[in-house]
Amino acid sequence: MSSTTAVSPGKIILFGEHSVVYGQPAIAVPVTQVVAKATVTDATHNEVLLSAPDLGQDNWLHDVPENHPLAAAVWALWRTLPANTPPPERLHITVTSTIPIASGLGSGAAIAAALIQALAHHIGRDDLAQPAVVSRLTYEVERIHHGAPSGIDNTVVSYQRPVYFVRDLAKTEPQIYTQLLMGRRLSIPAARLDTFSSQQPLHFLIGDTGIKAPTKEAVGDVRQQWQADPKSFENYFAGCGKLAKQGKKAVEAGDMIELGQLMNENHELLKQITVSSPELDRLVQAAQNAGALGAKLSGGGRGGNMIALVQEDELEQGVVKQALLDAGAQKVLRTVLAPKV
Ligand code: MEV
Repeated sequence: MSSTTAVSPGKIILFGEHSVVYGQPAIAVPVTQVVAKATVTDATHNEVLLSAPDLGQDNWLHDVPENHPLAAAVWALWRTLPANTPPPERLHITVTSTIPIASGLGSGAAIAAALIQALAHHIGRDDLAQPAVVSRLTYEVERIHHGAPSGIDNTVVSYQRPVYFVRDLAKTEPQIYTQLLMGRRLSIPAARLDTFSSQQPLHFLIGDTGIKAPTKEAVGDVRQQWQADPKSFENYFAGCGKLAKQGKKAVEAGDMIELGQLMNENHELLKQITVSSPELDRLVQAAQNAGALGAKLSGGGRGGNMIALVQEDELEQGVVKQALLDAGAQKVLRTVLAPKV
């Protein structure tokens, strides 16, 4: 019986969460230490069975609404097929993930991306398993569950490379675009997607506050605050955008000192945007005090994860890791951004 597997990594946002929603540049990098995995197997039954063993769930595709997270990924792919294609049948789709959910590591996007990729290969449509297509279809799934995502999460988990990303604001969020244009306070760069790499291996620790914080809520809340005080918030967004630009240069040059400082500055701006929390601030400060080169919250904030840039010898000594655990981190992952070979 034929079987096809695909994996998609977790992600961290290095610079520009939230401001990316408003058309500013942002940088995200894959976290390959945690992955979502999808396996598609030919089945003897006539239907499509969707299994998520981590959640103890088995559902027939025809029994769940089209916006069920796994079904939505199947239908997103199916809608790209010729109109006379019969519905999917005789398949068992199993999805597992080691990416913590609702913690800013992109678990939903990675699950959709892995499923779409595996299913596309399984039906012999390798062209639909290409990063650009997987990213576009994953964005459709993300829109169902996250309201108005910027598109950075689906992009990084599909390309599986560091990305410098500017959304196409006019196309994806015309209301925000028009309002920003009218205010004329924030320059809106053209949509852009660059994959890039670092000259030096860059080591990060990822500290989990253990607090589940849905990104959709934080994004909605920032939007309300922006509407109430556009001037201040557009200033913050511009500041974050500038840091992302400088951050890309620092990553490419492997300049860890500069990169760390920019991360610290980004955390301060995210505090102003009100997406930090006492728990995140405590972890960020603990990392900085213990010798991290820089630290910031990562993702939607209000809980979830923070990241710290550390020297390579931290990996043996574990000083920053221990400081994070002492300051209340429930878990500490590590990841390395390796130069492209
Ligand atoms: C989520 O990883 C990053 C946010 O900027 C939301 C988004 O970009 O859609 C908070």
